[in-house]
Order: sequence, then structure tokens, then C-alpha cells
Amino acid sequence: MAPLSSTSVLVGTNMEMPIIGIGTWQATDDEVLVAVDAALEIGYRHIDTAAVYENEFGIGKVLKKWFDSGKLKREEVFVTTKCNLSHFRPEHIEKSLNESLTKLQLDYVDLFLAHSPVGVQYKDEGLPMAPNGDVLVDLNTDIIANWKTMEMMVDKGKAKAIGLSNFNQSQVKRILDAARIKPANNQVELYVYLQQPELVEFCKENGVTIVAYDLISSTKTKSFQTKRPVPDEIVIQYPMEDDTVVSIAQKHNKTPAQVILRFLIQYGVAVIPKSTNPKRVQENFNIFDFELSKDEYDQLKALDKGEAGRQFVSRRNSPYAKHAEYPYPKMSS
Ligand SMILES: NC(=O)c1ccc[n+]([C@@H]2O[C@H](COP(=O)([O-])OP(=O)(O)OC[C@H]3O[C@@H](n4cnc5c(N)ncnc54)[C@H](OP(=O)(O)O)[C@@H]3O)[C@@H](O)[C@H]2O)c1
Ligand SMILES: *[C@@H]1O[C@H](CO)[C@@H](O)[C@H](O)[C@H]1NC(C)=O
Ligand SMILES: *[C@@H]1O[C@H](CO)[C@@H](O)[C@H](O)[C@H]1NC(C)=O
Ligand SMILES: *[C@@H]1O[C@H](CO)[C@@H](O)[C@H](O)[C@H]1NC(C)=O
Repeated sequence: MAPLSSTSVLVGTNMEMPIIGIGTWQATDDEVLVAVDAALEIGYRHIDTAAVYENEFGIGKVLKKWFDSGKLKREEVFVTTKCNLSHFRPEHIEKSLNESLTKLQLDYVDLFLAHSPVGVQYKDEGLPMAPNGDVLVDLNTDIIANWKTMEMMVDKGKAKAIGLSNFNQSQVKRILDAARIKPANNQVELYVYLQQPELVEFCKENGVTIVAYDLISSTKTKSFQTKRPVPDEIVIQYPMEDDTVVSIAQKHNKTPAQVILRFLIQYGVAVIPKSTNPKRVQENFNIFDFELSKDEYDQLKALDKGEAGRQFVSRRNSPYAKHAEYPYPKMSS
């Protein structure tokens, strides 16, 4: 196994999840052939994907190559996938996981997440869309019934651990109260401007690890721009251009991305930076040879803007906001 300077956190009862993984949202099947292969060469041992990313097939090809060559054993890599948004109901969850396992060419995933507390209407291929381009939300998502079904995926050996994504604190609590198998993880938007200290503390106290997404860059917001205009209420914020981040980076001779990632692991959350560029995949991994001082940590801690830092989702006029399980504070329009 490659020298793994990265530490790991415990998920579930006795499993370790490397504290850094490679994110793959918006990476195509072709791009992951390069990016995930590079990540494994560099020493990443944690891969984050989802049914809706439509790249599990490519990731499966890379994994098979590594397993067949004997360079990696199945138990040496931690693979996370997420239930298809269009399959988030008891009768469709297993079908979604089956399809993910087939594409990934795996017998089990290490972590299977509920992608969001809000499901969308059932559809076999692609996401169901209204003529105006809005996704068709399933207003009847039952997060408790779905959790019971996800527990069965552990019983059947298809997932070693199960967890949540985009669940708020009271939703995590409802799952904890109803669970036979506790959620091992909650994957949420979390970065220097949106640090969610109460959610992090609550999850920590209850043994639920946090994985941070949308953590270093707003370039994905830029790329949203090319497809759809960014909703008015979202003020695009670029943490890599923040003066505090830049000056701390200069002091350590590190990049802004490295400082942001280092801050997050010192904050106690796991990180899954996405890059399809092998140089940046390497850059994002080189965060174990320096440490932020208490003063630097405190400066970065002070950048939190609370809900004003939330930028991944539109909170006004979002089709998801009509759902009873919409997890974020609503904005009046
Ligand atoms: N559960 C959820 O609902 C959810 C939502 C969003 C994301 N996620 C997961 O979290 C992962 C990370 O989130 P994300 O992809 O939204 O955002 P991110 O990792 O913060 O940022 C990715 C963007 O930053 C660029 N980038 C990466 N490393 C860089 C560096 N060192 N310097 C400059 N630019 C860099 C990438 O471009 P290049 O590829 O060109 O390098 C890409 O455009 C996702 O890939 C996905 O696996 C989950
Ligand atoms: C999922 O796959 C298993 C075999 O691994 C099969 O028995 C089961 O019927 C499948 N379930 C669905 C809902 O497709
Ligand atoms: C899940 O989601 C994708 C994209 O939304 C879709 O194309 C795929 O066929 C879906 N089905 C399953 C069972 O995962
Ligand atoms: C979490 O989401 C639920 C469902 O929308 C909402 O009722 C609740 O107020 C939210 N809780 C927090 C802490 O934001």
C-alpha cells in the first residue's frame, strides 16, 4: 500500500474511512479513468461517487484494473456511493444500489448514503424534469422508511456502512432515534464560509462523521453559470481568493486550496476535493506535511458567515423548497 500519511476517521462500528478522498461530481466516465487512476497512484484510498454522477462505470473500470493487477486489494480502498435521487423510496433503493454495484464492479460499497432528504420522482433514466427545467420533486419522501430499507442493504452485505447527505441536525436526530443501524456519516456543504459548528458538534457527539463537500472552490458555481444563470440570492464567494487564506498560504509556501483542506481536517471533518487534473489531485493530497498554528486556525475559523455562506443550493424558488423535508432555512422570495 502506498505510504498513507493521511489519517482516517472511524465510521460505523469498526471501519476506518481515510480523511481525504477524491470527489468526482461533474467528472465524466472518461475523466475519472484519468483522475481516479492518478488519485490511487498518489495514495488516495477513498473515492466519492453517486448514482446521479453517471461516472460509476468509469470508476469501476479503474478499480478493476487495480484489483486485477494486484496493486490494490478490495479492502484497501473505501468506496462511497449515494442512492439515486429518483430511487429514494423503499421499493427502489435496492435497485439503485444494485445498479451502482454492477457499474462499479463491486460486491459491496463501504458507505452507501441517502443523497438528500428530498427525493425526486421515479424515473429509470436521467432525472425527471418539468418542461421549465425544474426537477420534479417527490413530495412524499419518507426518510425513516428509507432508512429502514438502507439498513437492509447492510444486512445483505451490499454496504458495510450507511449514512446521510444534506440532512440537517433535526433530521439526523430523527434517524438516530429510529435507527437499528446508526448513520455512520453525514456529507454536507461545508467550507470556510459555511462551517456549521452546531451540526458538526451534534454529529461528533453522536458518532456521525462529517464529510465536507463544495469545500475548496466555487468554480462549480461558475460552471453552473454556463448552463443556467446563478439565482440572484446566491452571492458567489471564492474561498481560494480570500485574503486571509492567501496570506496564510504564502507563509507556509502552500496553495490556498491546501490551506483550506488542512483547515478542514484540523476542524475535524473529512474532505473529498474533486479534480480531474492529476496535478491538482496531487496538490490536494499534499496537506499532511504542515500544520496551521492556533492563531492561523482561529483566523480561518473566524471566516464563517453562517447561512450567508451557503451557496451550493438555491434557497429561493427552489423546486426542492416545497418539500416537507427541505433541510435549509427558507428564504422568502
Ligand atoms: N452530497 C452532495 O450532495 C454533494 C454535493 C456536491 C459535491 N459532492 C461531492 O463532493 C465533492 C467535492 O465537491 P465539489 O466537486 O462540488 O467542489 P470542490 O471539490 O470544492 O471543487 C471542485 C472544483 O475545484 C477545482 N479544483 C480542484 N482542486 C483545485 C485546486 N487545488 N486549485 C484550484 N482549483 C481546484 C476543480 O477543477 P478541476 O477538476 O479542473 O481541477 C473543480 O472545478 C464532489 O466532487 C462530490 O464527490 C457531494
Ligand atoms: C438486486 O440484486 C440481487 C442480487 O444481488 C437480487 O436478488 C435482487 O432481486 C435485486 N433487487 C432489485 C430490486 O433489483
Ligand atoms: C439513476 O440516475 C441516473 C441519472 O440521474 C440515471 O441515468 C440512472 O439510470 C438511474 N438509475 C439507477 C437505477 O441508478
Ligand atoms: C431541518 O429540516 C426540517 C424539514 O424541513 C425542518 O422542519 C427543520 O426546521 C430543519 N431544522 C434545522 C435545524 O434547520
